[in-house]
Amino acid sequence: MRHEYILHKFFIIFNRTNLSCYRLLFILLLLISGNGIALRAQQNGRVYYSVIPQPRIVKPAPGDFNIKTQINICPDIRDSIFLDSIRYMPAFILSDYFENIRYPDTCPSDNYIVIRKAPVEDTDNSSAYHIKIRRKKILLEAPNEKGIFYGLQTLGQIIAGRRAINSYYIPAGDIIDWPEYEYRGMMLDVARHFFDENQIRYLIDYLARFKINKLHLHLTDDQGWRIEIKSYPELTRRGALIEVDSTPGGYFTQKQYSDLVAYARNRYIEIIPEIDMPGHTNAALASYAFLNCDNKRRELYSGTGVGFSSLCTSKDTVYGFVNRVIGELAAISPSPYIHIGGDESNATPHNEYIRFIDSVEKIVRSHGKTMIGWDEIARAHPDSGTVVQFWIHKNEAVKASQSGHPLIYSYAPYMYLDMKYNKRTPIGLHWAGYINLKKAYTKTLEPVDSLDINKFIGIEAPLWTETIRNMRDLIYMTFPRICAYAEAGWTPRKERNWRPFRIRLSLIQKLLPPGFYKDKSVPWRYPEKHKLLSD
Ligand code: ACM
Repeated sequence: MRHEYILHKFFIIFNRTNLSCYRLLFILLLLISGNGIALRAQQNGRVYYSVIPQPRIVKPAPGDFNIKTQINICPDIRDSIFLDSIRYMPAFILSDYFENIRYPDTCPSDNYIVIRKAPVEDTDNSSAYHIKIRRKKILLEAPNEKGIFYGLQTLGQIIAGRRAINSYYIPAGDIIDWPEYEYRGMMLDVARHFFDENQIRYLIDYLARFKINKLHLHLTDDQGWRIEIKSYPELTRRGALIEVDSTPGGYFTQKQYSDLVAYARNRYIEIIPEIDMPGHTNAALASYAFLNCDNKRRELYSGTGVGFSSLCTSKDTVYGFVNRVIGELAAISPSPYIHIGGDESNATPHNEYIRFIDSVEKIVRSHGKTMIGWDEIARAHPDSGTVVQFWIHKNEAVKASQSGHPLIYSYAPYMYLDMKYNKRTPIGLHWAGYINLKKAYTKTLEPVDSLDINKFIGIEAPLWTETIRNMRDLIYMTFPRICAYAEAGWTPRKERNWRPFRIRLSLIQKLLPPGFYKDKSVPWRYPEKHKLLSD
């Protein structure tokens, strides 16, 4: 332990100084000391580069790369199709860090980044990348465009972190990285309060920086129906009119939705649509009388209660409705998933609920999609490929994992973005407790009861918007907690470490959207003080 501590201190000094003699000595030490120390150096590498999520492998090397205001990008000339497809990427990611990005025909002898299509050793993960930072050049290799995108995000964060400490040098080294989980998501409830496509684009740009790759949109609820369904125009003509507190609502036309999907896709984020049913359906029940058992349209609802509405699950016409809604959605959504909610259907008789979920699962499958549902759906008998999203019901989640369902970890007491940080947080709820940044970081993916964590395909942090009225509220509740969740989804557990995470976060705080919550556990005001790196 002491040995490790001394090595760590040494590493900090070495990182702080830019003195190549120290650096050289350190590298020599690594080389002659064999694997044991090299491994610890990787662990200390947590503070070597300011990257969130923490990369899987970081290996220091001698020397520094000098960051100038201009950079040359030299794509690998051997693959022109690949070159075309990634050409726009460095500009839109690295333009935040360089005043001038050039694409010279022949690569200069200094100050350049080479982007190359190549496999990453030891993995066939489709999100992998390898960055080699050397004195004169940076080499970014990945087997595909997605890996290049992630590598560029990593590079951007490294540069931002160096700028934060007024350094124009990046210590040389290798970063070999790929995610632990394929599913790394956030959910946004656009039903309680509507957020339009420009606001969601803004959010997407920030999520992409942290390698979040799924955005689940909760499109319908008691207060509003937010997606155009051409077969049922009243759903948006009436059902989208208001939101919580009766402020004006809104919805996405199918064209707007498709444009948003394309925008997200360019940032390697998949949008997953949710139509919540059979409960949470008052907006639909207020739009069409036939969806109600008594054939009477409901009033629009602007409160925040739950569990009072249900589609009339005993009517054949309701299944016809569901089929057409899912059909239209499947046609405009390239995601392999459709989320059908299924939560808090307290107004649906139990046997009816089971029959409904089983039938809807078949409908979703008939449109070529895999169903996702909140954990209550495990009470029914969905196909074993159906994904169960664990939010609160442990027994249902255990049952789902025992019957072979893939699961998503969204446990409310650890992961709900609408939970207040502490009792002084002016917005948000606290029925699942308070979630400060440390809890978000340290608890996510902790086993709950006998749940087998190996059955999880990833994580998702939901933001319910009963009290979230605008972008300011959204940013305040989402950032920086989403950075902690992003790291839980990407970084292997043994590489996750709360204390250096705080330092990395401080170093790259400029990459968070203005108005994020300044959780007290992070030294926001002193990122430039290297001393902090030794915490
Ligand atoms: C939920 O929070 N009702 C899934």
